[in-house]
Amino acid sequence: MALTPRGNQIEEFNFSPGRILAGKYEVVSLLGAGWEGEVYQIRERATGIERTAKFFFPKRNVRDKALKFYARKLHKLRHCPFVIQYHTQDTIVYHGIPVSFLVSEFVEGELLSSLLQRQPGKRFMPFQALHLLHALTNGIEGIHRVGEYHGDLHSDNIIVCRYGLGFELKLLDMFHWGAPSAQNIQDDVVSMIHIFYEALGGKKHYARLPGEMKSICSGLKRSLILKKFKTAGKLKIYLETMQWE
Ligand SMILES: Nc1ncnc2c1ncn2[C@@H]1O[C@H](COP(=O)(O)OP(=O)(O)O)[C@@H](O)[C@H]1O
Ligand SMILES: [Mg+2]
Repeated sequence: MALTPRGNQIEEFNFSPGRILAGKYEVVSLLGAGWEGEVYQIRERATGIERTAKFFFPKRNVRDKALKFYARKLHKLRHCPFVIQYHTQDTIVYHGIPVSFLVSEFVEGELLSSLLQRQPGKRFMPFQALHLLHALTNGIEGIHRVGEYHGDLHSDNIIVCRYGLGFELKLLDMFHWGAPSAQNIQDDVVSMIHIFYEALGGKKHYARLPGEMKSICSGLKRSLILKKFKTAGKLKIYLETMQWE
């Protein structure tokens, strides 16, 4: 006899392309699977518009807490052009268990992590990395300005929509650690420096980087980073006024 999973036992959904969900959406493809759930590209059947849906594992979303925090944060940030747009939420019944999902815009682009992997030497040149960091400070400053924080900033949660002279980014997958605090805001600033360091090639190339780059990375020392750059805005101004030796 096949066992029906209980809510706290669901660890994957594995929806196949073509599957209809909630009568309204068709699965296009799986985009990613993580700790909280699975993320799919879906098509709204009534309009043909493609969207993204995050299906939460019930044990990671008790009483819809995770979904509500994410939805409310995205809604609060709806005027911030660097953050994915929230659309709606809905529920399906999966093996008799209600499963909630959050629908957002589908962003075309490439994850920063994968774009970096494709670069010669798997890293950006210093000037490109500076442009990336500048675009990030823009996005994060916008989030902090409305009293919010990202909470889980790394290269798998950043989509690069366009990249040329400058970067167009979309930030996604925010995490709720509790009410916004100085620590949450500072964590975002420190995370940006870690992303910059990763974009420059990480440990392997650090010693040979120009002094200006090392000075921004601050040896990845949290206290040093925060002493130099108290906020995303301060870091942005620093980048806009810095000079090469
Ligand atoms: N709105 C979106 N548009 C395009 N791709 C997305 C979108 N949201 C998520 N993805 C893709 O799905 C992956 C997983 O989504 P994410 O929200 O980061 O969930 P988790 O990291 O918890 O699995 C992302 O790394 C990205 O590749
Ligand atoms: Mg993620």
